[in-house]
Amino acid sequence: MQQNLRIPGPTPIPPQVAEALARPMINHRGPEFAAIIERVTSRLKYFFQTEQRILTFPSAGTGGWEATVVNLFSPGDAILSVVMGVFGDRFAKVAQTFGLNVTRYDVPWGQAADPDELIRQLVALPSARAVFLTHNETSTGVMNPLQTLVSAIRKQRPDILIAVDAVSSLSCVDVQMDAWDIDVVLTGSQKGWMVPPGLAMIALSERAWAATETSTLPRYYWDFRSAYKYLVKGQTPYTPPVNIFFGLDVALEMMQAEGREAIFARHQAVADVARARARAIGLELFAAPAVASNTVTAIKVPEGIPAKAITKAMRENEAVVIAGGQEQLEGKIIRIGHLGYVHEQDIQDAMDALNRQLQELGFRAPITIMME
Ligand SMILES: Cc1ncc(COP(=O)(O)O)c(C=O)c1O
Repeated sequence: MQQNLRIPGPTPIPPQVAEALARPMINHRGPEFAAIIERVTSRLKYFFQTEQRILTFPSAGTGGWEATVVNLFSPGDAILSVVMGVFGDRFAKVAQTFGLNVTRYDVPWGQAADPDELIRQLVALPSARAVFLTHNETSTGVMNPLQTLVSAIRKQRPDILIAVDAVSSLSCVDVQMDAWDIDVVLTGSQKGWMVPPGLAMIALSERAWAATETSTLPRYYWDFRSAYKYLVKGQTPYTPPVNIFFGLDVALEMMQAEGREAIFARHQAVADVARARARAIGLELFAAPAVASNTVTAIKVPEGIPAKAITKAMRENEAVVIAGGQEQLEGKIIRIGHLGYVHEQDIQDAMDALNRQLQELGFRAPITIMME
């Protein structure tokens, strides 16, 4: 039976992309690859909503964090890191690892960052050179109000660097890099892009590019200047994941044909279905409706039923693969991914399966008494 892969990345792949991934190998320094990287880069600009440089690296999303840190900063630089879950925490830790002076704005997991509190923290840290933000915190199913946060930061500090982890949101949700004036936007191929893991994509503003000239941290693999020097020749400094480029080329063509706005609307619609169905089953959502993510839904595990029993029963009895909680949320939530190649029926099927398996595990929806 075909699995209904409903984790928040890696995500399912359309057959056309799977076919492209299996194409025969080509010379990564030849004209065919040059045409592909040029086409891919220009189509990525449509989804990043930017006219600025976009670089790719053979890596997981984590590489995007490290590349940002080593190219733009120097030891001792002050950074304000907004942390609202596992991924914000890791982004902050990468900065710490390289000797940056990180101040954390810790948001309770399950909530979004508060613009007023963020500005209060920024005012208290006049030496800050940058703010690090997670757009969509995959570990909690919370999506930050990115435009509001960025505009509040810009008002307070017009020239500060703003780096946004959009790993699990870009291409699924509106992110207007240029219009909102964001300096770094990074993402990973295995999330909303309908291709396998293996490629990090990073867009850089002029302000970010200027920072690469003054940063003193050592870099080789992640060197933005070297990546850009090769990109203008239609190459990468070292061997790229050629098959991922084959797949991404096809995926981006499909995505462009569907259209940005239609893709955003599809993600909104499937997220609405996931949330409505969870509530109808009698489950409680982890994130408040106003900040609930359109790419992953986190659901509180009902009392008395182990989270692992739910994920196991879903996988073994229904061929539906969902995620559990991470770190402090382990055992407390389950997560259903709905990003990339996803349609309403996939989510209806997953929620039907969840309902069946919860009944099998003894879950009975709490009786709510309607008051007239
Ligand atoms: C928001 C976010 N940032 C970063 C990452 C790290 O990506 P990777 O596991 O590809 O390194 C993830 C992975 O799930 C993520 O969801």
